[in-house]
Amino acid sequence: MTKLIAGNWKMNGLVASSQVLAHGLADKVKANPGRADVAICPPGPLIRDALSAVSGSPISVGGQDCHANESGAHTGDTSAALLADMGCSSVILGHSERRADHGETSALVKNKAQAALNAGLVVIVCVGESEAERDAGQAETVIGQQIDGSLPAGGTPQTVVIAYEPVWAIGTGRTPSLQEIRAIHVFIRNRAQESHGLGDGLRILYGGSVKPGNASEILAIQGVDGALVGGASLTVEDFWGIIENCP
Ligand code: 13P
Repeated sequence: MTKLIAGNWKMNGLVASSQVLAHGLADKVKANPGRADVAICPPGPLIRDALSAVSGSPISVGGQDCHANESGAHTGDTSAALLADMGCSSVILGHSERRADHGETSALVKNKAQAALNAGLVVIVCVGESEAERDAGQAETVIGQQIDGSLPAGGTPQTVVIAYEPVWAIGTGRTPSLQEIRAIHVFIRNRAQESHGLGDGLRILYGGSVKPGNASEILAIQGVDGALVGGASLTVEDFWGIIENCP
């Protein structure tokens, strides 16, 4: 399966700097095609500029969140239909930062995912345990509940992607061992199969401190179908350094 390398820019970038980044990436990917499927997920107000910067390249653009309703009185929110209409292909949902900062529950994430599927977007649903949950031996319990509760009904391996992002590995420079990543990805695939019939062909990404220096060993793990990258997606050099390390 072709790896998917998705850059989650989070709340980073201004108009000019994001143009430099998106154009630089598009140039790299056009000059070296076929290494991986590449997506960038900029902050909402930068999506249109990012789409025009990468047009003519195989890079796709995604949102970082959407509302569960199709439209309406929801100040500050963005509908999945608008993301799709602008030209986005995907949307990240249930990121641990949204679960923590905005109190998003798995039930809400599922409703958002349902809206995104209805709008024709690929959903990248994030799951992952906190350090306390991991230390208490609860990682699989927590992740299992997130999978059961967050995945939409009616998804397929073409429309649903799961990103495993241990909360304690995000932005910390720490990562689980390669064996731990492999084991959790096996667990996630089995659980997605049991709960939603989605195991075979499902793309499961790893996210959390992926860098050019650790990308090749992480991406070589069987069952790791790509990466969701935060900090290292913010420079052309680092993000390309991950893409070109795809096995
Ligand atoms: P970092 O790559 O900065 O650890 O962030 C990972 C992440 O949260 C991607 O969604």
